[in-house]
Amino acid sequence: MVKAIVLYNSRSGNTEKVALKIAEGLGVECRNNKKIPDLKEYDLVVIGSWVIMGRISFAGARYLKKLKRKNIEDKKVALFFTSGGPDEIHPFTENKENPRKIKEVMFEKMEEILTKRSQVTILPERFYCKGAIRMFGEEKENVGHPTEEELTQAKEFGEQLKKQLEE
Ligand SMILES: Cc1cc2nc3c(=O)[nH]c(=O)nc-3n(C[C@H](O)[C@H](O)[C@H](O)COP(=O)(O)O)c2cc1C
Repeated sequence: MVKAIVLYNSRSGNTEKVALKIAEGLGVECRNNKKIPDLKEYDLVVIGSWVIMGRISFAGARYLKKLKRKNIEDKKVALFFTSGGPDEIHPFTENKENPRKIKEVMFEKMEEILTKRSQVTILPERFYCKGAIRMFGEEKENVGHPTEEELTQAKEFGEQLKKQLEE
Protein backbone atom coordinates (compact mmCIF):
# COMPACT_ATOMS: atom_id res chain seq x y z
CA MET A 1 0.00 0.00 0.00
CA VAL A 2 1.20 3.47 -0.86
CA LYS A 3 1.73 5.82 2.06
CA ALA A 4 0.69 9.42 1.59
CA ILE A 5 0.01 12.50 3.69
CA VAL A 6 -1.56 15.91 3.01
CA LEU A 7 0.20 18.97 4.47
CA TYR A 8 -0.90 22.57 4.34
CA ASN A 9 -0.74 26.04 5.83
CA SER A 10 -3.88 28.13 6.00
CA ARG A 11 -4.65 31.50 7.56
CA SER A 12 -8.41 31.78 7.21
CA GLY A 13 -9.42 28.16 6.60
CA ASN A 14 -9.89 27.84 2.82
CA THR A 15 -6.74 25.84 2.17
CA GLU A 16 -7.53 23.72 5.21
CA LYS A 17 -10.98 22.79 3.84
CA VAL A 18 -9.44 21.77 0.53
CA ALA A 19 -6.62 19.85 2.25
CA LEU A 20 -9.11 17.85 4.32
CA LYS A 21 -11.06 16.90 1.20
CA ILE A 22 -7.96 15.83 -0.72
CA ALA A 23 -6.96 13.72 2.30
CA GLU A 24 -10.46 12.22 2.40
CA GLY A 25 -10.15 11.25 -1.27
CA LEU A 26 -6.76 9.70 -0.66
CA GLY A 27 -7.90 8.10 2.58
CA VAL A 28 -4.90 9.48 4.49
CA GLU A 29 -3.95 11.82 7.32
CA CYS A 30 -3.87 15.60 6.95
CA ARG A 31 -1.68 17.98 9.00
CA ASN A 32 -1.14 21.72 9.20
CA ASN A 33 2.12 23.63 9.55
CA LYS A 34 2.06 23.54 13.36
CA LYS A 35 3.09 19.91 13.50
CA ILE A 36 5.26 18.75 10.65
CA PRO A 37 5.90 15.01 10.73
CA ASP A 38 9.04 13.25 9.60
CA LEU A 39 8.30 12.46 5.96
CA LYS A 40 10.64 9.48 5.74
CA GLU A 41 7.87 6.88 5.75
CA TYR A 42 5.74 8.45 2.99
CA ASP A 43 5.80 7.82 -0.76
CA LEU A 44 3.61 10.78 -1.66
CA VAL A 45 3.41 14.17 0.06
CA VAL A 46 0.60 16.50 -1.02
CA ILE A 47 1.38 20.12 -0.16
CA GLY A 48 -0.93 23.14 -0.16
CA SER A 49 -0.67 26.85 0.52
CA TRP A 50 -2.32 30.15 -0.44
CA VAL A 51 -1.68 33.39 -2.30
CA ILE A 52 -0.88 36.90 -1.10
CA MET A 53 -0.10 39.75 -3.48
CA GLY A 54 -0.22 37.35 -6.40
CA ARG A 55 2.49 35.14 -4.91
CA ILE A 56 2.92 32.41 -2.32
CA SER A 57 2.28 33.77 1.18
CA PHE A 58 5.41 34.40 3.28
CA ALA A 59 4.22 31.84 5.78
CA GLY A 60 3.74 29.39 2.92
CA ALA A 61 7.24 29.91 1.54
CA ARG A 62 8.71 29.47 5.03
CA TYR A 63 6.66 26.32 5.53
CA LEU A 64 7.81 24.74 2.27
CA LYS A 65 11.43 25.44 3.23
CA LYS A 66 10.85 23.76 6.59
CA LEU A 67 9.45 20.66 4.88
CA LYS A 68 12.77 20.22 3.16
CA ARG A 69 14.39 19.51 6.50
CA LYS A 70 11.93 16.68 7.18
CA ASN A 71 13.26 14.05 4.77
CA ILE A 72 11.24 15.10 1.75
CA GLU A 73 14.15 13.96 -0.43
CA ASP A 74 13.21 11.38 -3.10
CA LYS A 75 9.47 11.71 -2.47
CA LYS A 76 6.70 12.30 -4.96
CA VAL A 77 5.00 15.62 -4.33
CA ALA A 78 1.63 16.91 -5.56
CA LEU A 79 0.82 20.61 -5.14
CA PHE A 80 -2.35 22.62 -4.54
CA PHE A 81 -3.32 26.12 -3.46
CA THR A 82 -6.24 28.48 -2.96
CA SER A 83 -6.39 32.16 -3.91
CA GLY A 84 -8.83 35.02 -4.05
CA GLY A 85 -8.38 35.70 -7.70
CA PRO A 86 -9.35 33.70 -10.74
CA ASP A 87 -6.51 32.30 -12.77
CA GLU A 88 -5.83 35.61 -14.43
CA ILE A 89 -2.72 37.32 -15.74
CA HIS A 90 -0.32 37.87 -12.88
CA PRO A 91 -0.45 41.56 -11.93
CA PHE A 92 3.26 41.90 -11.21
CA THR A 93 4.93 40.05 -14.06
CA GLU A 94 8.27 41.68 -14.71
CA ASN A 95 8.35 40.62 -18.34
CA LYS A 96 5.53 42.38 -20.19
CA GLU A 97 6.29 40.38 -23.36
CA ASN A 98 5.54 37.16 -21.52
CA PRO A 99 2.60 37.78 -19.18
CA ARG A 100 1.94 34.82 -16.97
CA LYS A 101 -1.03 33.66 -14.95
CA ILE A 102 -1.22 33.42 -11.17
CA LYS A 103 -1.55 29.65 -11.31
CA GLU A 104 1.60 29.32 -13.37
CA VAL A 105 3.59 31.71 -11.18
CA MET A 106 2.39 30.13 -7.94
CA PHE A 107 3.02 26.48 -8.88
CA GLU A 108 6.38 27.41 -10.35
CA LYS A 109 7.43 29.12 -7.13
CA MET A 110 6.28 26.23 -4.95
CA GLU A 111 8.17 23.85 -7.20
CA GLU A 112 11.29 26.04 -7.18
CA ILE A 113 11.42 26.13 -3.37
CA LEU A 114 10.87 22.40 -3.00
CA THR A 115 13.32 21.25 -5.65
CA LYS A 116 16.18 23.62 -4.81
CA ARG A 117 19.05 21.34 -3.82
CA SER A 118 16.56 18.47 -3.21
CA GLN A 119 15.71 15.47 -5.35
CA VAL A 120 11.94 15.82 -5.21
CA THR A 121 9.62 14.60 -7.96
CA ILE A 122 6.84 17.11 -8.53
CA LEU A 123 3.87 15.36 -10.11
CA PRO A 124 2.08 17.04 -13.02
CA GLU A 125 -1.23 16.58 -11.17
CA ARG A 126 -2.13 19.82 -9.38
CA PHE A 127 -5.17 21.36 -7.82
CA TYR A 128 -6.30 24.95 -7.51
CA CYS A 129 -9.51 26.60 -6.40
CA LYS A 130 -10.83 29.96 -5.26
CA GLY A 131 -11.07 30.80 -1.58
CA ALA A 132 -13.18 33.46 0.11
CA ILE A 133 -11.25 36.59 1.07
CA ARG A 134 -11.85 37.22 4.76
CA MET A 135 -11.30 40.50 6.52
CA PHE A 136 -11.76 40.57 10.29
CA GLY A 137 -13.35 37.15 10.14
CA GLU A 138 -15.99 38.12 7.56
CA GLU A 139 -16.13 36.90 3.97
CA LYS A 140 -15.76 40.01 1.83
CA GLU A 141 -15.12 38.55 -1.62
CA ASN A 142 -15.69 35.15 -3.20
CA VAL A 143 -18.33 34.49 -0.58
CA GLY A 144 -18.96 30.76 -0.19
CA HIS A 145 -15.66 29.63 -1.76
CA PRO A 146 -14.44 26.96 -1.76
CA THR A 147 -17.91 25.84 -2.81
CA GLU A 148 -19.34 22.35 -2.35
CA GLU A 149 -18.52 21.72 -5.99
CA GLU A 150 -14.91 22.79 -5.53
CA LEU A 151 -14.62 20.62 -2.43
CA THR A 152 -16.00 17.65 -4.35
CA GLN A 153 -13.36 18.33 -7.01
CA ALA A 154 -10.70 18.42 -4.28
CA LYS A 155 -11.87 15.01 -3.04
CA GLU A 156 -11.80 13.68 -6.60
CA PHE A 157 -8.26 15.00 -6.96
CA GLY A 158 -7.30 12.92 -3.91
CA GLU A 159 -9.07 9.86 -5.34
CA GLN A 160 -7.30 10.31 -8.65
CA LEU A 161 -3.89 10.48 -6.92
CA LYS A 162 -4.72 7.35 -4.96
CA LYS A 163 -5.70 5.41 -8.05
CA GLN A 164 -2.60 6.52 -9.87
CA LEU A 165 -0.29 5.51 -7.03
CA GLU A 166 -1.88 2.11 -6.76
CA GLU A 167 -1.38 1.33 -10.44
C1 LIG B 1 -3.87 40.08 2.99
C2 LIG B 1 -4.35 39.20 1.87
C3 LIG B 1 -3.86 39.39 0.59
C4 LIG B 1 -4.29 38.59 -0.46
N1 LIG B 1 -3.78 38.78 -1.70
C5 LIG B 1 -4.21 38.02 -2.73
C6 LIG B 1 -3.70 38.21 -4.06
O1 LIG B 1 -2.85 39.04 -4.32
N2 LIG B 1 -4.19 37.43 -5.05
C7 LIG B 1 -5.13 36.48 -4.82
O2 LIG B 1 -5.53 35.78 -5.75
N3 LIG B 1 -5.63 36.27 -3.58
C8 LIG B 1 -5.21 37.02 -2.53
N4 LIG B 1 -5.71 36.82 -1.27
C9 LIG B 1 -6.74 35.81 -1.06
C10 LIG B 1 -6.22 34.52 -0.45
O3 LIG B 1 -5.22 33.93 -1.25
C11 LIG B 1 -7.39 33.53 -0.32
O4 LIG B 1 -8.37 34.09 0.51
C12 LIG B 1 -6.91 32.18 0.21
O5 LIG B 1 -7.92 31.23 -0.05
C13 LIG B 1 -6.63 32.23 1.69
O6 LIG B 1 -6.31 30.94 2.13
P1 LIG B 1 -6.58 30.47 3.63
O7 LIG B 1 -8.05 30.69 3.93
O8 LIG B 1 -6.20 29.05 3.63
O9 LIG B 1 -5.72 31.30 4.51
C14 LIG B 1 -5.27 37.61 -0.21
C15 LIG B 1 -5.78 37.44 1.08
C16 LIG B 1 -5.32 38.21 2.11
C17 LIG B 1 -5.88 38.00 3.48
